[in-house]
Amino acid sequence: MSSSIVSTQDTEHSQKLLINPTASGITVKGSITIPGDKSISHRALMLGAIATGETVIEGLLLGEDPRSTAACFRSMGAEISELNSQQVVVQGVGLGNLQEPQDILDAGNSGTTIRLMLGLLASHPDRLFMVTGDHSLRSRPMSRVVKPLEQMGATIWGRQDNSLAPLAVKGQQLQPTHYHSPIASAQVKSCVLLAGLMVDGKTTVTEPALSRDHSERMLQAFGATLEIDSDSNSVTLIGKPRLQGQKVIVPGDISSAAFWLVAGAILPGSNLLINNVGVNPTRTGVLEALEMMEADISRENERMVAGEPVADLRVKSSQLQGCEIAGDLIPRLIDEIPILAVAAAFAKGTTVIKDAAELRVKESDRLAVMATELGKMGANIKELPDGLEITGGNDLKGAEVDSFTDHRIAMSLAIAALNAQGKTTIHRAEAASISYPNFVSTLTEVLTS
Ligand code: S3P
Repeated sequence: MSSSIVSTQDTEHSQKLLINPTASGITVKGSITIPGDKSISHRALMLGAIATGETVIEGLLLGEDPRSTAACFRSMGAEISELNSQQVVVQGVGLGNLQEPQDILDAGNSGTTIRLMLGLLASHPDRLFMVTGDHSLRSRPMSRVVKPLEQMGATIWGRQDNSLAPLAVKGQQLQPTHYHSPIASAQVKSCVLLAGLMVDGKTTVTEPALSRDHSERMLQAFGATLEIDSDSNSVTLIGKPRLQGQKVIVPGDISSAAFWLVAGAILPGSNLLINNVGVNPTRTGVLEALEMMEADISRENERMVAGEPVADLRVKSSQLQGCEIAGDLIPRLIDEIPILAVAAAFAKGTTVIKDAAELRVKESDRLAVMATELGKMGANIKELPDGLEITGGNDLKGAEVDSFTDHRIAMSLAIAALNAQGKTTIHRAEAASISYPNFVSTLTEVLTS
C-alpha cells in the first residue's frame, strides 16, 4: 500500500492534514521549485509602493502574508496588480506620498508587514493610521519597534502601554537617530531604516548580531545610500534618497526549502534537488546547522540574481548527529528552529538549541509548541527557557497534533509525520498557506513509496 496524504475540512474554519506513511518507509525524490522568499516579497511590495515609477516583481510569494502587505499599501494609494508569481506590477506613490487610508490597516498574521510598515507610517507627517492584525499578531510585542520610533520623535498609541496592536500612529517629521537594538531582529532594523527614509540626515541601527540584510540590499538597489560597518553590525541610511522603481526577481525561500532539506536528510534513500533557493549568508544558518549534523547537502549552480545569491540545493539522506545550535547562528536560522528540532529527533545523540528565546514571540510560542506536539509523537524533547534539548533515537509514532495556527509548526510536524509509524493528524494545517500555499501538493509530488 502506498503512503497517503489527505487534506480535509476539520472545523468550519480549519483543515486537517492526515499523513499515513507506508510501513516500509518513504523517500523524497526528484526536483522541486519552492515558493518565493517571504522577506524579499514583503520588501519588494513595500519599496515598490513608496518609490517613484514602476516596480516589476517576478517570483513573488503568493502566501497570505504578502497579500496582507499588498492590501495595506493599496489602501494607501499604491497601485499593485493582481498577485501572481509570474509578474506583479507596482506603481509607487513616490517617497513621502502614502495616503491616509480610509480604514484600519490589517496586517493579518504578518509581523514583517506590521513592523516594517510602522516605520513608514510614523514618518508620514499629518496623517493618521490605524493598524491591527489577527489574534496571533495582536499578542506579539510591538514595543521593540515603537521604542526606537519614539526615540526618533514618533507618536504611537496602543494597548498595554503602546506595546500591542491595534496601534494608532500620528505621522511626524522624524529626527536622525542612532538606535542600539537590544535584539538581532531584521524587522526592528528594517523598521528604523524605513522610518529614516524621510529624515533629514542619518539614521543608524546597531544590532548585537547580524540579522537578515534584505532591506539593506533592496534599499540600495532602489537608489538609497547606505553605509555598512560589518565590524560593529551597524548600518546607516542617508535620509531623503530618490527611490526609483526597479525590477525585482524574488528567489525561492530557504525557510521553505528547509522542510525538504530535513525530509531528504531523514528519509532513507532520498535524493532531492531544490531549485532556485536564496542563499544570502544572513539566511544560511540552517545549512550550517545541518552540516554540523552531518547532513549530505550540496550547492549546485551558484549565481547572483537581482542582488541576492541563489543556488540549487541537493539533499541526500544520511545519519544525522546531534549538535549545539546557539549564539550568532540563531538569527541566521531563526525561522528554521522548528524543522531543525524535527531533524534532531532523528539524529544520533543530543541536540541543544540555546539563545533562542525570541521563538516564544513568533506566530506561536514555538519552543513550547514544538516540545508538546513533537513530544506527543514520542520525541524525547525538553523545553529550555531559551531553547530546546532533543535526544534522537526514539522511533516516532503517528499522533493527533496541532499547528497552533503557526505555518512553520504545521509544516514541521508534517515532515516529522513522514518518518513516523502510523497515522498523524495535523489540526489547523491550513496555516501553511501563510508562507507556502502549495505545500501539500508539493508533499504529494515528492513522495515515492
Ligand atoms: C523577518 C525577520 C525575522 C523572521 C521573520 C521575517 C523579516 O523576524 O523571523 O519571519 O522579514 O524581516 P525578526 O526580525 O523579528 O527576528
